[in-house]
Amino acid sequence: MAVRYESFWSNEGMRLQAAFDLLLSSENPLDGVDALIWQSLETGARGNKHPWSIGCLMTIQKTGEKEYCPSGRTVVLRRCDVVARTIDFHTDVRSAKVKEIEWSEGAVCWLFYEPSTKIQLRLHGVASVMNDEDADAAWEAVSLQSRSAYLSVDPPGQQRSSQQPPSTADRLVSQLESERGRENFRLVRTRVQSADWLYLRQGGHVRASLAYSEERSTEVSWLVP
Ligand SMILES: Cc1cc2nc3c(=O)[nH]c(=O)nc-3n(C[C@H](O)[C@H](O)[C@H](O)COP(=O)(O)O)c2cc1C
Repeated sequence: MAVRYESFWSNEGMRLQAAFDLLLSSENPLDGVDALIWQSLETGARGNKHPWSIGCLMTIQKTGEKEYCPSGRTVVLRRCDVVARTIDFHTDVRSAKVKEIEWSEGAVCWLFYEPSTKIQLRLHGVASVMNDEDADAAWEAVSLQSRSAYLSVDPPGQQRSSQQPPSTADRLVSQLESERGRENFRLVRTRVQSADWLYLRQGGHVRASLAYSEERSTEVSWLVP
């Protein structure tokens, strides 16, 4: 019986893998790896089926006077600026991650991985929690359904002792009423400082390191995978 690979691999995943395969078969792949990574992030920020449309954001949680703990969670990649080397996500200002970003002066790590591709992208950078005109514009584009994430009367993460999970009925509102979510909404922008790209390719694993300076120069090199 013929195997239908489409059922295992998403089209978007296959496309991402094929793009890197093509690059690696070219004469000077090192020259193209940075551009392809950022082009792929840009595509990820546009479409929810792209392997990099959703990532894991890691922050540093302070658990005691001198005690720290890594903290990770899934977030949606909302925007990517290839020239400025920034990536954005949306969040609730009352969430734990905002406090963690603020106390750690923005130290964050992003991880993108989708199993069908065997391609991992890890980004380190500095995140800023924004509530300016860019946040206003982003809020305007948030659908009514997505606005519900910012409408809880009680702060996200608050503990409850009841047997049943807390009701989310306070989030079922009209477009006009959804405007009250704006005060909780924030745009978080990460200026990426370095990237570590790894592809567990069948013909041999490949890994690259990329470092971005404030002056917008980029240093790219292969690493032993
Ligand atoms: C598929 C998926 C997408 C998510 N996207 C976001 C997001 O874009 N922004 C966000 O703040 N939380 C998002 N979440 C929820 C977070 O993963 C997390 O549970 C929540 O923000 C609380 O995190 P914190 O307590 O570490 O701040 C998403 C969760 C899932 C499962």
